[in-house]
Order: sequence, then structure tokens, then C-alpha cells
Amino acid sequence: MKALIASGGRGTRLRPITHTQNKHLIPIANKPILYYSIEAAAEAGIKEIGIVHNADSREVPEYVGDGSRWGVKITYIPQEKPGGLAEVVMISEKFIAGDEFIFYLGDNLLVGGIKRFIDEFQKSKCNCFLTLSRVKDPERFGVPEIRDGRIIGVEEKPKKPKSNFAVAGIYLYDKHIFEAVKSLKPSARGELEISDAHQYLIDNGFKVGYTEITGWWKDTGKPADLLEANRLILDAIALRIDGEVDSTSEVAGKVIIEPGARIIKSKIRGPVIIGKNSIIEDSYIGPFTSIGDRTEVRNSEVEYSIVLRDCKIQSVSLRLEGSILGNDVEIVEASGKPRVHRFMIGDQSRVEVA
Ligand code: G1P
Repeated sequence: MKALIASGGRGTRLRPITHTQNKHLIPIANKPILYYSIEAAAEAGIKEIGIVHNADSREVPEYVGDGSRWGVKITYIPQEKPGGLAEVVMISEKFIAGDEFIFYLGDNLLVGGIKRFIDEFQKSKCNCFLTLSRVKDPERFGVPEIRDGRIIGVEEKPKKPKSNFAVAGIYLYDKHIFEAVKSLKPSARGELEISDAHQYLIDNGFKVGYTEITGWWKDTGKPADLLEANRLILDAIALRIDGEVDSTSEVAGKVIIEPGARIIKSKIRGPVIIGKNSIIEDSYIGPFTSIGDRTEVRNSEVEYSIVLRDCKIQSVSLRLEGSILGNDVEIVEASGKPRVHRFMIGDQSRVEVA
């Protein structure tokens, strides 16, 4: 059993963060999203992982490395341009080399690991095994049609979904998936759709099974999904204080304070993670907030937000909430009179002011 992880694409719905950073490297609870899938594969006992990445960037290979820190061997497979998930599978045929494999979309987050899916797939003797999750908005996903406990069809982003399930981005296959992906023609959005490959397998008499994801699963395609994923991952952390908290500060609930971080005259109400060498002074950090490394928050309040590394938040009069700040972002008090808002904001940013 091998694992194939997709980390390509342009992440257009997460701009401006994705102008300078691959979406799979955006941290959730201060850890790149992609690491959660690598960890899940390693935990399930998988030793060989292929990661498909954008051919025009070495960002993912350079960041992730050879896999030795997880005890796995990572092979990088470049994709020339985003051509759809079925193309991701197609260009990985040599790496898979006839084995069974789990195909994991690197922007999907799952609680509870993948071992159960692998066991069920192997027991089922299916050619293809899909993981399904009940969602409120199936039209955003691949959607199965289920009759008498069997999947009889799969449609990609249907206007009229035939069930309340999303096909999650965690799929298990045997070698027959390659025959399916090679048979496809590009869809209306110009991509080889993985849902069409599943439909091919169904139409051609292959055994397509499924299991329901009963725990929590999230596709982190949109900004609100990142905040929600951050909330759920932070909810599961355990208290660990490796940085310094001065005697006038108050730390309550599940909080991680990384080495070198300093909390001065502040209130931290978990679940919260504060990254290495960050400084929180005269401030309040509220539940479900991740603060990246070397970030400074002074005389300000932040709650339910993701703040990446090397940011500066200083004397902001209203609490920041539901916010995502990229790397090296500064939000500081405008000095002098008249009192003004002064912005220096890159392409496709969004600011809401009171
Ligand atoms: C992709 C698949 C879709 C699946 C989803 C899960 O959608 O095409 O079938 O349900 O991942 O995350 P995309 O994220 O490319 O819109």
C-alpha cells in the first residue's frame, strides 16, 4: 500500500495568501495542512508516499523534504499545469507501479486517521473505495448516488445533488483506476475529473465501495474553512507551556506556548497556540486563535483567527475576529492627527472596518 498526496493547484479561492504561498503549506494550528496527510499515512504504516506538486515551483519539495522525519520515503511527482485530479493519478502510474494506494488530497483534513479506511478497503476486495461525508452543501463536491447500499453514480459539483454526501478527498484504489483515468476527456472546466473516473469504474463493472466518515472532515478550499479547521484542530490540543508567562498574565484552558515566546501582562484564553519567539504584550488572545512564529501582538485583542509568522499587531482599537493574516503583515495604529485608516494592501485582499 502506497500513498499519493496531491499538493498542486493554484488555490485561487484563498488569495491573497496563496499569491506567495502554496495553499497546502498554510498552517493550521501552526502546522502546514499538508503535514496532516503525511502524518496520517505514516501513522497507518505506509512507507512510500508520492507527492504531486506544481512543476513550476520547488516550494513543496523544499519545505517537506525527503520524509525521513516521519520515517517515510517521499517521491516528488511534478505536474506541468493543473489538469484535474484524474490527471494527478495518471501521471503517478510509474510511482504506484501496480500497488494498491490511498489517494489523499493534501488540502483535506480529517480527525481519526486513515487506518480504518485501509482495513475496510482491503477487506472489501473493491477496486475503488470512496470515503463519504454528510454535508450541508453537496453541490460543492463530488456527490454519489446511492441505491440499496451501493454507489450507482458519482457526479462532480451537481446542481441537483442526488444525496447529502460529499465524496471526500481520500480515495482507495487498485491498479484499475489507471484504465479509468486514461479513458477520460476534459470536463467543462477543462480538467480530468476524478468523479468521472469513478463513474467509469461503475459503468464498466468494477467494484466501487464506500464508507462513511463519521468523525470530522474538512476540505479547506475557502477562508472560512481554514478558520473552522483551525478551530477543530486547536480543540484537540493539550496544554504545553514552553515559553515564558509573566506573573501578571493569565493563561486559561488548552494553550500551547512554544519555546522562546513571551506573554507579558496579557490574557490568553484557549484553545490557542502561540508560535516560537512571539511576543504577546498588554493583549488578549481569545479561543481558537493560532499565532505564528516571531509575531508581535501589543495592546490589542485577537480571537478566532489565524495569524501567520512575522506579523505585527499593535494598538488596534477593536478586537480582530474571524481574521486570517498572511506572513509579514502589519496592523498598527496610525499616528498623528487626523485619526485615519491608512492601508497598504496587496492584490485580492479583504479588509472590513467598523
Ligand atoms: C475535489 C473533487 C471533489 C471532491 C473534493 C473533496 O474538488 O473534485 O469530487 O468532493 O475535492 O475535497 P475540488 O476541491 O477540486 O473543488
